Amino acid sequence: MAGSPARPRPPVEPFKIKVVEAIPSPSREERELALERAGYNLFNLRSEEVRIDLLTDSGTAAMSDRQWAGLMLGDESYAGSRNFTRFEATVKRLTGFPHVLPTHQGRAAENLLFSNTCRPGSIVPNNMHFDTTQAHVRHAGATPMNVAIREAYDTSSEHPFKGNVDLGRLAELLEKEGPETVPLVMVTLTNNTGGGQPVSLENLTEVARLASSFEIPLYLDMCRWAENAYFIRAREPGHGAKSITAIGRAMFDLAEGATMSAKKDGLVNIGGFVATRNSRLADRLRESLILFEGFPTYGGLARRDLEAMAIGLEEGADLAYLEYRVGQVRYLSELLANAGVPFLRPPGGHGIYLDARRFLPHLRAEELPGQALVVELYREGGVRTVEVGEIMFAGTAGTPEGVEPLELVRLAIPRRVYTSSHIEYVADTVAAVFARAASVRGMRMVERPERLPHFTARFAPIGSAPTPPAVAP
Ligand code: F0G
Repeated sequence: MAGSPARPRPPVEPFKIKVVEAIPSPSREERELALERAGYNLFNLRSEEVRIDLLTDSGTAAMSDRQWAGLMLGDESYAGSRNFTRFEATVKRLTGFPHVLPTHQGRAAENLLFSNTCRPGSIVPNNMHFDTTQAHVRHAGATPMNVAIREAYDTSSEHPFKGNVDLGRLAELLEKEGPETVPLVMVTLTNNTGGGQPVSLENLTEVARLASSFEIPLYLDMCRWAENAYFIRAREPGHGAKSITAIGRAMFDLAEGATMSAKKDGLVNIGGFVATRNSRLADRLRESLILFEGFPTYGGLARRDLEAMAIGLEEGADLAYLEYRVGQVRYLSELLANAGVPFLRPPGGHGIYLDARRFLPHLRAEELPGQALVVELYREGGVRTVEVGEIMFAGTAGTPEGVEPLELVRLAIPRRVYTSSHIEYVADTVAAVFARAASVRGMRMVERPERLPHFTARFAPIGSAPTPPAVAP
């Protein structure tokens, strides 16, 4: 039809299906009851109450036949397992960091790093902290500070690298505080809190130069490093012919070390690590690792998990896989754009972030538009998403002067799990809620825990009696 938008095309999956898992299909009444029982917090839902689960892309990937086969090669020796040897060699080859310590997931790596580098009064800058990252910075007595560029807060800006660090603000901070107060500079690849947005190699190079001029080490949060490298390859001049691993290596060469939740680009259901070039720090990390996680050749994991992680880290850097992966997120963005739905532009690497303020303009900030939208998407189609805004980040880590904090709803796409028709179902669900957006009611928080509130808070629709306290299922 003349004038109608071009029909978006989904990417062709570079895999076929060997094992299937049934998807639940709760009725509207069941969904309504589930919402009440859950205190309108979708973390409290049972998975059988969810039709399409976009709560997180973390630990939710489908492992490959090679990874499942790898599990059978588990050598469950307490010390010196051959799976550790393979895992360590893979991480060293990928990153060049000589000291590699496995952990059970990303936040354990964060705990080790921050508790061994920060002290009360320290400040840790990061483009934008993820919630567990800032919680661990605080747990170590330090203050997290977000220093992303201003465009990161403008949901309609098409800036190709909205994960970039504001070099002026970082320089100001480092000049004022110096290495006595700032034990490390961290950069998150990609910027999850700000929409799964990448950091350019140019910006990362400048950050490294700036940090090193103050003799402050740079650490990377590399959970989604391969998606970040994919965007550098696609968008940053001069990198289009390079491999993902070559771009990755260019990023890692700038840093002293990294933390990783391998539950993202490592394509495993559990696992992570912390890695560094600093031998003295590595010794301290190793002692903490033994105290909190386990012996350094397993770090809180079964040895078979290390095998799956070694294989997953390689598969996650495959270009054909990444083209499909980022293409699937882009496909969802195109379907939503055709329906006029407001979301953070450009689409991110691991998900779409709806702009809750523009989606529900009739709701005031205190009516929690993000949470209201999360609830409504579940009510409409059994789609589980997560709020990334007032509740996850209320009053934390700071935004630049004169900039409103983001109020988003993340549709995180698990890796290799859902097909194009699932993506279309999600787009239809979002579009149906958008069509009746004016009727969506606000929410209020009725129980607010002190730390990491979004996981356990309870809510009620505005204008209703508070829901009764949780009862064990
Ligand atoms: N850093 C970032 C940027 C993350 O996105 C996460 C987890 C972590 C660290 C912590 O890793 O979960 O293995 O302990 N993000 C998940 C999410 C939970 O839904 O985005 P973890």
